[in-house]
Amino acid sequence: MASEQKVDCGRRRLIVATAAVGGVAGVVTAAPFVASMMPSERAKAAGAPVEVDLSKLALGEMLTVAWRGQPVWVINRTPEMIASLKVTDPLVSDPHSDKLQQPAYCKNETRSIKPEFFVAVGICTHLGCSPSEKFETGAASGVGPNWPGGFLCPCHGSTFDLAGRVYKDKPAPLNLVVPPYMYLSDNKIVIGEDKKGA
Ligand code: FES
Repeated sequence: MASEQKVDCGRRRLIVATAAVGGVAGVVTAAPFVASMMPSERAKAAGAPVEVDLSKLALGEMLTVAWRGQPVWVINRTPEMIASLKVTDPLVSDPHSDKLQQPAYCKNETRSIKPEFFVAVGICTHLGCSPSEKFETGAASGVGPNWPGGFLCPCHGSTFDLAGRVYKDKPAPLNLVVPPYMYLSDNKIVIGEDKKGA
């Protein structure tokens, strides 16, 4: 019994000692680990919101900015481009974007805060290729004689309208994602920040 107790005590000491060593080791190794978990300035910059000056974007043009390593498109849609969304309404698979690929404040006919400026992540919701801009209409677009303008994914042929809504019977299951964004002024938006949605 006595020796059992000794053994137990010994084991307990051993366990405590091991735990203590482990604890110290844990503290020693935890410091660099925590330090490595702190976002670097570069990482912070990569995830930071991005400001876009809309005054530089001519009517009918698109620019691409990088936000969180993703291409984000900003398009200054013409009245004709906006009108084309009525034409594509019955042709797209989720016309009202009920599957929530946009903040609530963009859940409307144009999927945007202001109808003219459309903001979307330029990544196909099928397997992640980047769709090409096909703003030209009709046969000249190379997409089809009745093409009203939009985007074509070169990988497996998904087509999207000018609000990033995917056409029916295409491999992409969802509309393009509209990221959070907000207006800082009439001519400036910030992508990645939305006080309204927060
Ligand atoms: S990745 Fe776009 S259709 Fe497949």
